[in-house]
Amino acid sequence: MKSIKEVKDLKGKRVLVRVDFNVPVGDDGVVDGKEDWRIKAVLPTIKYLLEKEAKIILMAHLGRPDGEVVEKMKLGPVQDRLSDLLDLSITRTPDCVGDIVSEVVDEMQAGEIVLLENLRFHQGEKRNDEEFAEKLASIADIYINDAFSVSHRAHASVSAITKFLPSYAGLLLEKEIKILSDAVSNPKSPATIIMGGAKAKTKLPVIKFLMNKFDHILVGGVVANVILKAKGIDVGESMIGDIDLEDVKKIDLDNKKLCIPFDVIVCNSKIKKVEVSSIGEMGDEKILDIGPDTEEVYSKIIADSKMIIWNGPMGKFENEKFASGTRKVAEAVVKSKGYSIIGGGDIITALDQFGYLDEVDYVCTGGGAMLEFLAGGKMPGIEALK
Ligand code: 3PG
Repeated sequence: MKSIKEVKDLKGKRVLVRVDFNVPVGDDGVVDGKEDWRIKAVLPTIKYLLEKEAKIILMAHLGRPDGEVVEKMKLGPVQDRLSDLLDLSITRTPDCVGDIVSEVVDEMQAGEIVLLENLRFHQGEKRNDEEFAEKLASIADIYINDAFSVSHRAHASVSAITKFLPSYAGLLLEKEIKILSDAVSNPKSPATIIMGGAKAKTKLPVIKFLMNKFDHILVGGVVANVILKAKGIDVGESMIGDIDLEDVKKIDLDNKKLCIPFDVIVCNSKIKKVEVSSIGEMGDEKILDIGPDTEEVYSKIIADSKMIIWNGPMGKFENEKFASGTRKVAEAVVKSKGYSIIGGGDIITALDQFGYLDEVDYVCTGGGAMLEFLAGGKMPGIEALK
């Protein structure tokens, strides 16, 4: 994989950069200063290109508009936030391909930035369509992928486009790959992985893949519910999601490294009573957080860890009644001397809410992408650069 730093002369070159600006936009049409971490993460690459006096053309997506133009998924709020962060004016084109884009790019001076409108307004993006990729490529001399968090998608702007332009990795992409590869290939022991949240399907392959390399696997959220159920333990009316328990059983569920909650916070769905319960003593209740004894055991393991990777909260932290598990685990992670890596929108929101986000060693921009990488999967955007 070639690095952006290998390009000899960037001065005046039209550099097309795939970034991930998929950030929450408020009802007021503004990107909140607390939600702009994905925009901030790509600033080193933009600043590097500014220093080198390149013509910078940024392409990004927002949401999942599915090939339609959706007014509230236009990139105006992102353009404003990026412009504030760089203290520069940024031009946004009304589309990402076509004559209007070529005209704007033709007028660009070295050191200027243009942001192309949402790539996903075109079906060709998601379909990895070569014709669409060629149109995107036609306005540039060089392509840079700086969007690790979209590189698990075989989309035109991360995959097919590399057929049409000399292609390189941006500074953020390189950094994320390095941090995650080092963590996976050579985890400092004792190393702990924490998996929680709602989408168990994307986290179980990580547990399976890393079980031999890591010392402890702590689970919470739906990931824990699914494992408990696969072990034949009653989880009452707890959320399980769309998962085949036979697949879960393919993981070595009796492995001592795998720590599952032994007490939990439950809520009775009818009378809404919240209480601590031991695992296995469920009626018509739902598990919504790990319990205090599990919190203590998890915190001790984290305190002694030299490396911690965390994706997904321990419970329904958005509700204060079920936030304790995630908060205590977060507290243990930031207090631990171990190197901590977190990823995934929910856990980033949770840590931000508790005021711990700045104390984590590395916040990965990828949620789904981080999980695919940790599960040893090949990512189309990274493969295309090889
Ligand atoms: C993300 O938010 O994880 C990335 O921007 C990818 O978005 P997607 O899941 O809609 O492809």
